[in-house]
Amino acid sequence: EKGGFEHFMLKEIYEQPKALRDTMTSRLDAAAKTIGFPELNWTAEELREINKIFIVACGTAYHAGIVGKYYLEQLARVPVEVDIASEFRYRDPLVDGNSLTIVISQSGETSDTLAALREAKRLGSRTLAVTNVVGSSIAREADQVVYTYAGPEIAVASTKAYTTQLLAMLMLAIYVGRLRGSMSAEREQELVRGLTFVPEQIHKMLENVDQIKVFAREYGSSEDAFFLGRSLDYAVALEGALKLKEISYIHAEAYAAGELKHGTLALIVSGVPVIVLATQMDVYDKTVSNLQEVKAREAVVIAIGFEGDTSLEKYADHVIYIPRTDKYLAPLMAVLPLQLLAYYAALTRGCDVDKPRNLAKSVTVE
Ligand code: M6R
Repeated sequence: EKGGFEHFMLKEIYEQPKALRDTMTSRLDAAAKTIGFPELNWTAEELREINKIFIVACGTAYHAGIVGKYYLEQLARVPVEVDIASEFRYRDPLVDGNSLTIVISQSGETSDTLAALREAKRLGSRTLAVTNVVGSSIAREADQVVYTYAGPEIAVASTKAYTTQLLAMLMLAIYVGRLRGSMSAEREQELVRGLTFVPEQIHKMLENVDQIKVFAREYGSSEDAFFLGRSLDYAVALEGALKLKEISYIHAEAYAAGELKHGTLALIVSGVPVIVLATQMDVYDKTVSNLQEVKAREAVVIAIGFEGDTSLEKYADHVIYIPRTDKYLAPLMAVLPLQLLAYYAALTRGCDVDKPRNLAKSVTVE
């Protein structure tokens, strides 16, 4: 059942190229280089009425929501708020008939997310679920559903569900962006073209993970780890820290790199591993200067950057390269080394990778 892999988590990491391909197929016209959602019955008119989007989810799905905010705001030019479901449901949110509430849930059964969906509906919002389980409670109760086709995810730590959620959010943002007239056809074509390469690029990345195994062994005994990034890299950093905490029990925190000076820098001491994501070129120089700040405190810096960006080697102790791609596609690839680092660190520490202590796959109680 694990298809020759030692754990479901590893199997699911390796299933990402297929999961992404399956999630793309029915929505992507590779010849025309456009995105469509045959399952959505929105009119352009209706979409233009939406003046606010709320994205609501828990855990990893919440992290996918944060990436989704960047996509929707930048490509579709709609203001977006992202909420943790257990906060949204009790905070009396300013949702109304012109809002769209998107709930993201792999299982479609998370109790807080379901309650948040019900609350959004009660307040008159239109609702859309992004979920992986056909016929789940969340799928049944939302007005509209966009399925991710990741296939069953068994490991408690979410991996392929996350990347397919990112993909679904990006495709939605492109689709809404076009219908609202906020994105050019050229930009859409560029992104769609880039997307078609992603499954194969990820497949190649997964063929060579020796470097990551070495880092996991070398730094697996650390007490703490930090993940830094700006913009979309920050959103991915949050997911990297959660993965590491969840399965290896290493205390891990993600910070927007610019926030370091406002407190966290006090924790950066000699030998502490700091993973710095540097795939967002519009904030690249700023990120590199934060990298230098932690390096000056003798942290061990592992940078994640684009192939060919050898300048990172000047500042970081180690560099993990990902294929060069569009800034919106980078999260789909940058998270891979973070998933693998968490996996191999957990292995090194003898943790129960697929069933971390105290956690359940689906949180159906509050
Ligand atoms: O099924 P859901 O996507 O609603 O689950 C949400 C979270 O419970 C889930 O993502 C959790 O954070 C994972 N264990 C993270 O790996």
